[in-house]
Amino acid sequence: MRALVMIEPGDSARSQVHDVETPHPGPGEITIDVAYAGLNFMDVMARRGDPGYAPSWPYHPGLEVAGTVREIGADVVGLSVGDRVAAVPAGGGLAEIATARAGLTVPVPAEVSLRTAAAVPLGLATAMLLIAEVGRFTPGDSVLVHSASGGIGSALAQLVPLLGGGRLIGTVGRADKVAAAEKAGYDVAILRDHVSADAIRSANDGRGVDVVLDPLGTSALALDLDVVATGARIVLFGNASGGALDPLPPAGRLIGGNITVTGFSHRGLVAGAPHRVASAVRRTLELLAAGELSFPVTELPALADVPEAHDLLAEGRGSGKYVVRVRP
Ligand SMILES: NC(=O)c1ccc[n+]([C@@H]2O[C@H](COP(=O)([O-])OP(=O)(O)OC[C@H]3O[C@@H](n4cnc5c(N)ncnc54)[C@H](OP(=O)(O)O)[C@@H]3O)[C@@H](O)[C@H]2O)c1
Repeated sequence: MRALVMIEPGDSARSQVHDVETPHPGPGEITIDVAYAGLNFMDVMARRGDPGYAPSWPYHPGLEVAGTVREIGADVVGLSVGDRVAAVPAGGGLAEIATARAGLTVPVPAEVSLRTAAAVPLGLATAMLLIAEVGRFTPGDSVLVHSASGGIGSALAQLVPLLGGGRLIGTVGRADKVAAAEKAGYDVAILRDHVSADAIRSANDGRGVDVVLDPLGTSALALDLDVVATGARIVLFGNASGGALDPLPPAGRLIGGNITVTGFSHRGLVAGAPHRVASAVRRTLELLAAGELSFPVTELPALADVPEAHDLLAEGRGSGKYVVRVRP
């Protein structure tokens, strides 16, 4: 079968589509004939060699897929060959056949296309976990999202209004992304070069922000602390630039402001609490099936187009969520 293989850390020239051995499921696993797979910044972090993202080289990237169940391993109940599913593989999703744990595989309702479903297991599900669970969002809360124009940022543009959000403010890295983020649903998008506590407060009608979702390591943490309301939650969920992380703020500041600073890792949940990921996948698929939620994606026609798209993500030139069509 054909799969995208990252030969070694480096640029897109080191990612190639190869013929590789067909996988078969072990106990508790299934294999999936992949129809569509989602692209994610975590694959870019693996490609550039950030520690902890590729367990070994060559690396087989791809962390979210949708397709049909191909083979079922021992001890798997509730899934049948041919079922339409979305799943979180442990890598290897950018391939014609992917392997996933049954506990991280969720049936896709008939109303949801496999194209959209491929953006759920890591993309929409992460956005749902960030806002609804870790961010302890309540209706009316204002939300600040750094990196508003990427896959997670565009998922949040759909979810926050649906859940009854107040003002939704985003920061973006390039001037051309301001309009794109506002078109996607942000009330106000601000170029990060121009961002300040005043700009964010004024975008929030002069008030502090209730929830901050921040994938910028700790580089924006001082700003986050300056703009939050009493009782706010700041969720740190990435390190896009890959730089060193600073220490957390002094406890007194958090105690005095009733501020929660918390972390989020999809990978950590997959390892330690997979049922929480599966339940977020199920919840977002149900919202999509009910027509309450929609999630526009950009479709790449073939696996061979993925390395160039990874370049877009790596250089901050991507916009919205990308999925690749793997099988017709
Ligand atoms: N913790 C988790 O489990 C988890 C899960 C999924 C994603 N994430 C993180 O969430 C972020 C967004 O992920 P995604 O899948 O939505 O990715 P994406 O579609 O590629 O978006 C990434 C965005 O990050 C911004 N960015 C900021 N600094 C950057 C840098 N140094 N290099 C490249 N891009 C940079 C870019 O937008 P602007 O420049 O416009 O801001 C870019 O659009 C990433 O940092 C990712 O690692 C974390």
